[in-house]
Amino acid sequence: MKLFIVAGARPNFMKIAPLIKAVDEIRSQGSSLEYILVHTGQHYDYNMSGSFFEQLGIPKPDIHLNSGSGTQAEQTASIMVAFEKVLIVHKPDLVIVVGDVTSTMACSISAKKLNIEVAHIEAGIRSYDNSMPEEINRLVTDSISDYFFTTTQWATDNLVNSGIATERIFLVGNTMIDTLLANLKKLTKPDFYDEQGLSQKTYFTLTLHRPSNVDNYSKLKNILNVISEQVHDIPVVFPVHPRTRKILDDNGFSSNSFILVEPMGYHDFIFTIKNCKGIITDSGGITEEATVLDIPCLTLRNTTERPETVEYGTNVLIGDDMNKLSTAIRKIINNDWKTGKVPPLWDGKTSQRITEILNHLAEKIEH
Ligand code: UD1
Repeated sequence: MKLFIVAGARPNFMKIAPLIKAVDEIRSQGSSLEYILVHTGQHYDYNMSGSFFEQLGIPKPDIHLNSGSGTQAEQTASIMVAFEKVLIVHKPDLVIVVGDVTSTMACSISAKKLNIEVAHIEAGIRSYDNSMPEEINRLVTDSISDYFFTTTQWATDNLVNSGIATERIFLVGNTMIDTLLANLKKLTKPDFYDEQGLSQKTYFTLTLHRPSNVDNYSKLKNILNVISEQVHDIPVVFPVHPRTRKILDDNGFSSNSFILVEPMGYHDFIFTIKNCKGIITDSGGITEEATVLDIPCLTLRNTTERPETVEYGTNVLIGDDMNKLSTAIRKIINNDWKTGKVPPLWDGKTSQRITEILNHLAEKIEH
């Protein structure tokens, strides 16, 4: 069975890395699974893409669509057009998409329009906030996929409640956590760490990139001011996403509280969050990593598509409530925080479970 494995943006790379290793492994045991790796080019900078391929040992993409940036519609359209062309040439049996980025949705649509089956890894999660582009990507992808690999029972239930047949849904766990656990021994200390006098639990980590937090400068500045007031002299490591960098630079932002750095490579970033006192973020994936690493985490969003990080984990939803943010930062500083539990099946073996299921599917198709 010929698979297309698709990745496009930073959070996809951690999800495909262990899957590719697991497919290679099962192939070495005689499986007929084979894959072609497609990079859509949604993220294209070395910091956002190339460094992840190097550090996570992902092979060079077989096909690069070079789609690049643009508005949501421009990005979707250019990925769809380029992906359709390679589907017609290579005729895969199954397209595997991961996560909820624009590439995930665009490639699913192109495949299904050519009657090619689609498997979605990290299916079924929902923020129920349709103002997020990722929620639209999740809804569209799950409405046309053929096979659904889920991270939690809640995600499975969401799919069942939307009418998807249970035999197409596989609760397998979290491939991003496969990558986290496989890399814990390979972490690297960032160059700035010693220069800035950082050590274990003496600093916070901040990431912000959601349009709802960063596109309006006065909102972004207010968040940064509140954080700066509450942490006093505790430094905040702030790897700045390109979208956020642009608005900060355009407005001449400067502050002594923040150590502003470029987007970090995987090993440096996980080292940084594993050793910090607390994380403030609007990312979804980081809340999962914080849960497994048992690091206090504050999410600057009103909703989450990953409620297990709040129920089981170390995450708390702050939304837009700056008083709640202040109180939570003080609680973290005072070591007054809940302890995380790891959700079931987030055990580092998810990709193996997925490839075993794919192998069964291949055997069915071939007989
Ligand atoms: C995308 C995903 C989001 C994910 C995030 C992680 C969607 C809808 N959103 O958001 O779910 O959490 O990636 O980073 O797919 N840019 C660069 N270099 C790059 C990539 C982007 O400079 O390598 C710039 C773009 O030109 C654009 C901005 O960053 O100005 C946003 O990029 P885009 O891919 O549209 O969305 P993200 O905000 O990164």
